[in-house]
Amino acid sequence: STETAKLNDGSEIPYVALGCWKSSPEDAYNAVLTAIKAGYKHIDTAHIYQNEEGVGKAIRNCGVPREELFVTTKLWNTNHRDPLAALNDSLKRLGLDYVDLFLVHWPVPFKKPASDAEEQFFVKRKGDPTKFDNDYDWDFVKTWELVQKLPTSKCKSVGVSNMSVTNLKTLLNAPSTTKVPACNQVEMHPYLPQHALLKFCQEKGIQVEAYSPLGSTGSPLLKDETIVELSKELGISPATLVISWAVNRKVVVLPKSVTPSRIESNLSIVQLPDDVMEKISLIYKTHPQRILCRDWGVPVFNDEIEA
Ligand code: A2P
Repeated sequence: STETAKLNDGSEIPYVALGCWKSSPEDAYNAVLTAIKAGYKHIDTAHIYQNEEGVGKAIRNCGVPREELFVTTKLWNTNHRDPLAALNDSLKRLGLDYVDLFLVHWPVPFKKPASDAEEQFFVKRKGDPTKFDNDYDWDFVKTWELVQKLPTSKCKSVGVSNMSVTNLKTLLNAPSTTKVPACNQVEMHPYLPQHALLKFCQEKGIQVEAYSPLGSTGSPLLKDETIVELSKELGISPATLVISWAVNRKVVVLPKSVTPSRIESNLSIVQLPDDVMEKISLIYKTHPQRILCRDWGVPVFNDEIEA
């Protein structure tokens, strides 16, 4: 599906995106080319994924005009004090004049390493590339004050990621906040449906985007008993069921794959009956699970998985 949602700034965002987290630069390059050829219009990356070069090269080489595509990248935690410099660096790595969406990756400022070499050392350290010092003299409200003023010639829309209702309220209530984030990209799947967060964001005009929609590495949702059973009943694949559940909730969804056949099939969205939507939305009651939960040194996921 190339159906789009309308953001609060008037831009259109395609509901299905290719997710690029955990893809190597080479894999990301090939995956983006495959995806665009299959009809994807939306590609999601980030500085910390270390594949902006591959993603950008594929976007430049794919043959589809840039203005027909929607490209997202994200501000890494070490760059909260200078979002414009970080955006410029991302654009340089991507080889693009602008991104469609620039997200504050985490509401967690880190200290900027003293040198590029030191930053590279941390970023390249596989396993835990996030072991930086917290920058306790800065906060995401100040970051947003800068991000909301970024030139729209370089990023058409701006938003946040990994924001709980508590943190969103802090952000929206701050006197310095003049722009409501266009999007909030969060972990979301049937084990973590985030019903309260989705409702809050929809009331405030913030488009929710779901990362790890299949449950990330190992795609545990695709083996879930209820998902498997329902997908058999409907005669569709578990992946199509889970991805369609997101879009049926008006959530932008970012399935990650580097496998051509999966990339192609993940674009198909089906309309799901109300009772099927209901059943999937209740799975978390017996199986609540947040997959990406780290100690960030500051409150991030301050809201419980709602019971
Ligand atoms: P791969 O990239 O090797 O194809 P998520 O989107 O939740 O992050 O899940 C990504 C994981 O799910 C990746 O390991 C990816 O594997 C796998 N995956 C993506 N699409 C499908 C699909 N349609 N069927 C099975 N596995 C899939």
